[in-house]
Amino acid sequence: MPELNMQQLTVFGDEQSEIVNVAKVKQLSPFRYPGGKTWLVPGFLRWLQSLSYKPEYLVEPFAGGGIISLSTAYHGLVDKCVMVEKDEDVASVWKTILYGDWEWLVNQIQSINLTVEAARKIINAPADSCEEMAFKTILKNRVCHGGVMANGSGLLKYGENGKGILSRWYPDTLAKRINTIVSIKDRLDFFEGDAFDYIQECGNNEKTCFFVDPPYTASKKKAGKRLYRYSEVDHDRLSRMLKNVKGKFMLTYDYDEAIINLAEKYGFNYKKIPMKGTHNSIRYELIISNTSV
Ligand SMILES: C[S@@+](CC[C@H](N)C(=O)[O-])C[C@H]1O[C@@H](n2cnc3c(N)ncnc32)[C@H](O)[C@@H]1O
Repeated sequence: MPELNMQQLTVFGDEQSEIVNVAKVKQLSPFRYPGGKTWLVPGFLRWLQSLSYKPEYLVEPFAGGGIISLSTAYHGLVDKCVMVEKDEDVASVWKTILYGDWEWLVNQIQSINLTVEAARKIINAPADSCEEMAFKTILKNRVCHGGVMANGSGLLKYGENGKGILSRWYPDTLAKRINTIVSIKDRLDFFEGDAFDYIQECGNNEKTCFFVDPPYTASKKKAGKRLYRYSEVDHDRLSRMLKNVKGKFMLTYDYDEAIINLAEKYGFNYKKIPMKGTHNSIRYELIISNTSV
């Protein structure tokens, strides 16, 4: 998934027709995440501020690289952002940065002399601690094709400018991002677990809002299955649960008629948003909400 060249053509309708270039969005996540929502940051923050009240909590139950929570916390728009993620490897990174020995992690990132052999050795070795798992995960995320860490994804062979795996390895940038997250960690919480449990648990507070970005696997041609270790989601059940939350939510999907039918079934508002990808191809995403969008 390209990190810097996705451009958003419109955000939630006529209000902003200007193209938002993601290169201008502050990148706070240590991950380059498949299906990452950096392009949605300006639109999401505007949506959050357009609510008639200031939410106390933002719950992001399919956190992945967490860019929406990180950006919300960075701008101090809610008291606490609660990230939830089921993938154990991804979870180890958030647990290390928020609750563990993040300094060890930063030190490993900055001191490794990265070669293909060194990367392979670390990636293939068992991890004895959460911190070791986090280091392995960050390394794998940076050097595997498209940031895809799901099994079977190979090491990037020929990166930009022929520099191989080094082309995606920016230790100082990663260290800076981790330091920034540490500086706002009083506004961040992380739970390793199942999205559905947390939506259920947090749904009764009207001052809690949700950003929900599930793996998209409803249609056969969608890539969710090969991008994530956990990709099976009951999309109807998810919408049914969101229908019952007391606060506001924003739900995102790749554009698909089946999802429009789902949004209509539950009486949600939705908008089709065009995106400009790497090769100037246009693709569409859906923004679905119980507010107007
Ligand atoms: C589309 S990605 C989220 C990307 C994220 N919005 C970002 O910007 O990086 C979906 C994530 O949901 C996680 N996931 C899948 N099933 C889950 C579940 N039942 N509970 C929690 N997380 C889950 C996947 O591991 C993946 O990281």
